[in-house]
Order: sequence, then C-alpha cells, then structure tokens
Amino acid sequence: LSQISPMELAMKYFDMFPEEKTPLWRNPCDYEKHMEIWSANKTCDRLPHFLVVGPQKTGTTALYTFLAMHPSIHSNRNSHDTFEEVQFFNGNNYLNGIDWYMDFFPIPQENESLFEKSATYFDNMLVPERVHALLPRAKIICILISPSKRAYSWYQHMRAHKDPVALNYTFQDLITAPDTAPREVRTLRNRCLNPGEYYEHLDRWLEYFSSKQIHIIDGESLKDDPIEVMDNVQKFIGVQNYLNYSTVLRFDSKKGFFCQMLSTSKNKCLGSSKGRVYPSMDEETEKYLQTYYFKHNTQLVQLLEKLKISIPKWLKQETKFS
Ligand code: A3P
Repeated sequence: LSQISPMELAMKYFDMFPEEKTPLWRNPCDYEKHMEIWSANKTCDRLPHFLVVGPQKTGTTALYTFLAMHPSIHSNRNSHDTFEEVQFFNGNNYLNGIDWYMDFFPIPQENESLFEKSATYFDNMLVPERVHALLPRAKIICILISPSKRAYSWYQHMRAHKDPVALNYTFQDLITAPDTAPREVRTLRNRCLNPGEYYEHLDRWLEYFSSKQIHIIDGESLKDDPIEVMDNVQKFIGVQNYLNYSTVLRFDSKKGFFCQMLSTSKNKCLGSSKGRVYPSMDEETEKYLQTYYFKHNTQLVQLLEKLKISIPKWLKQETKFS
C-alpha cells in the first residue's frame, strides 16, 4: 500500500467502504482532534444559528426580508448560482465542503445571530440529517400554508417563468397527470404536489431535531399579522435586542401585503414575483386537492397536537370534511 499514490489509495478505500463516498460534514469545533489539525485562522463562528427551510411559495422571502431588517440578525451573502439562496445542504453544493459554506457568512459580533434561508431544504430527503451533522444545535423555522394554495402558487410561478409544461397544461390537468405522462410533466406535477405533504417532511426533521428546536409559522398569519409572527420568531431565536416590528412594517394597500416602512409615505415592498395576481383556483381542482392532501393533513393535525403546537385555521378547515 505504501507504494501507491494517494489517489489510488483513496479509490481502494472507497471500493472497500462505498457508503462513505458521500461525505457527511460534522462541526469541526465539536472534535478536539479535528481542531488540532485545522488551520489556526479558521472559526466555527461563521455558521448559521438558525435556518429558514421553506417550503417554497409559503412566504419565505417575506420572512427572510423581515429578519434581515433586524439589526442583530444577519444572513449569508447571496449566491448568484442558485437564485440567491446558498442551497448548501441539498444538491451538489454540499460537496464543496464546509469552508465553501462558511465563506457565505460574516463573523458575528457578540449577541448577533446568523441565519440562512433556502426554501428547498424542507422537503429534501437528505437535508435534516446533513443539517444535524453540521449544526446539531441549530434552530429550524418552516412556514406552512394550505398545501393546495402552495401547489397552485408554484404552478403560477412556473407559468410566470414561461415553463413550457406550465404554459401548456392547465393546473387541473397537471396535478392529475398519470405516471405514464412525459417525464417533464411528472416532474412539474411532483414539484407542485410533493412539498405540500407536510407531515412526512416534518416527521423527517423530527428524527434529527427536538420539537423545541423547530418553529412552525402559519403562513397566513405571516401575511395578515407579520408583527406578531416576528415577535414569536424573535422569542424562538432568543435575540437579545428586541425589534418592535410595528415600527418598521406596515400594510401597503396597493401591494395588498405588509411592506417595509421607508418614510411616512413610502414603503418598500417585495418585488412583483412575490404576491402575484392570478385567477383563483377553480372549485373542482380545490376539491381534488383537498382529497389528495386529506390524509397528510390529518396526520399533520395529530402531530401538531402531540407537539402542543396550535393548529392553523386553514388546516382545521382542510381536515373538516371527509
Ligand atoms: P404568491 O405570489 O403566490 O401570492 P416565497 O417567498 O416562499 O416564494 O413565497 C411567495 C409567497 O409569499 C407569495 O405567493 C405571497 O402570497 C406570500 N407572501 C407572504 N407575505 C408576503 C409579503 N409581505 N409580500 C409579498 N408576498 C408575501
């Protein structure tokens, strides 16, 4: 063995232990031996204290923007490759390693919190285990809205981006497309439907994180009363420097959403891709989705009850009928 190159040695090793081919990054600062061989100028301070994990289309950009307004809360810098989100724990960025990830974050001052928002984390199979390995003490925030609304919002998002499948299929035809449909149709159908199976995804996060580490925001409250939502988020994160969001947010009647106050008469709202205007879902499709999600939503109610988390109004409504 001493005769072979490091590359050949690595190949041999991974032939013997193929399950170790994909790394699982752990926090270097939790291991004394690792610290001894780590470069002296490295620090684990540049890792997030909490993550906003999604799912997509539930109001994650609004939450991100409101958090970024807080003087003691800082996010990562944007990544140009992945639509601003870092998307480290899912996909190939993970293979870039933790130095790559840490470079996105500033070094926080005392009592400051760092966070990352990647809305693709919530429903990814690999992410909870990976986050737990690197950030076992992290706090996790997710936002839930009616999964039917979420699916429709994603479909509208894809239409706005001129996705050919979304343009050629009605929402009803897309979500009811059979498994014999072309691959790209099945892919978009799944992207609409799967993230909304909230119970399954949340249950996976709970395999790795205690319920005390997870905060669930009702996305409807985030729209209607972000001030109270941000109060609860601050309590959950444990920020020292409390920000009264009623001094920085106000409802903008033109946008139809809460926006950042810039002056007595001027607001800064999220861009036109957030809070889009589109026709409401037709009744037949709504009923189809209510049936589709009924089992998942019922399991979600049971889980939330077990965790003593209050049940959002939309969830009560969606589990009323059978
Ligand atoms: P629609 O555009 O379908 O209405 P995300 O940022 O996760 O992609 O979510 C986008 C959704 O955030 C929007 O979906 C909108 O309903 C919701 N949202 C919640 N609060 C908002 C706010 N203050 N401004 C704009 N959109 C907001």
